[in-house]
Amino acid sequence: MPTLLDVAKRAGVSQMTVSRVVNGSALVGAETRARVEEALAETGYMPNMLARSLRSKRSDTIALLLPDMTNPFFTELAHGVEAAAREHSVTMILANSDENEDEEVRLIRVLLQRQVDGLLVVPAGSGDAALRLCRTQGVHLVCVDRRPQDPDVDVVRADSEGGTIELGRMLVGLGHRDMAILTGPASTMTAATRATAFRHALVEEAGLPEPPVFVGTFSIEGGHAATLEAMAGTPRPTALFAANNFIALGALRALRELDLRVPEDVAVVGFDDLPEAMVMFPFITVAAQPAFEIGRQSVVMLLDRLADPDRPFEEVVLPTELVVRESSGGPIGPPAAG
Ligand code: RIB
Repeated sequence: MPTLLDVAKRAGVSQMTVSRVVNGSALVGAETRARVEEALAETGYMPNMLARSLRSKRSDTIALLLPDMTNPFFTELAHGVEAAAREHSVTMILANSDENEDEEVRLIRVLLQRQVDGLLVVPAGSGDAALRLCRTQGVHLVCVDRRPQDPDVDVVRADSEGGTIELGRMLVGLGHRDMAILTGPASTMTAATRATAFRHALVEEAGLPEPPVFVGTFSIEGGHAATLEAMAGTPRPTALFAANNFIALGALRALRELDLRVPEDVAVVGFDDLPEAMVMFPFITVAAQPAFEIGRQSVVMLLDRLADPDRPFEEVVLPTELVVRESSGGPIGPPAAG
């Protein structure tokens, strides 16, 4: 195994200079850095990061724990995390809990054993177990996208409430009265918040009838099943609110099976956009989240916490963007005469 000394000899510099180049120090001139980097490549020397972290008590590694890596919202959020981590010379480990709280806790234990400096967690449920475990281990975490009940935690998320109310108001303004809510697991903060907010826009603000709520999973299958159930109801809804992108896709699939046209027969709006690469023709009216920015800002918040552990807890709530497309249709006029 090549050593630091081998590199120093080959480059004609001290071992301290090699160490400075490996650690990205700015105290090394360009010509010397080039010689050392050439010697590193020729020898194949790999610094022992574990030994280094034991000395410095820092691994310069953070972990991002997502609930569903198949969802483009989360892959875009991970992209923002990765970009910010690279910008701050920090390595990112990515893990997936599959919306399962037990798996979330198991993964956090594994990540803590790997000496990560901190965690970014999108809680699979309430987030309480994750928060408790990190606290007992003295490791900082930032809750991303979904906040736990506990106020003493750093949070970066989008404005689920404001974005959903905006969608509800738009449908009310188009003349819809009988609508339904298709949402995710009740234990998930974003599912619960969006269902409550959509109801608020219809009932508290517009005095419309209570919209039935169909609770499923944040998945295409979940949206499909919830839509079939919703459309079997009386009165049949003329508009559906889907609490995330996959639920909206499932709704479109179910409506097609029922030979119902969107938006002519049923309007559909959803939370979260879908990347252009995934859809031939963007069609669904959505409240789009700034996923990349959520990821980027969560890294900044975690690094600020690591630099100043006693700083006050902070919650950053980023605005969503209303993107109006065909699926919400035009004004609902009175039934055609005759
Ligand atoms: O797709 C899963 C949903 O839950 C997204 O809308 C995201 O906000 C997460 O909370």
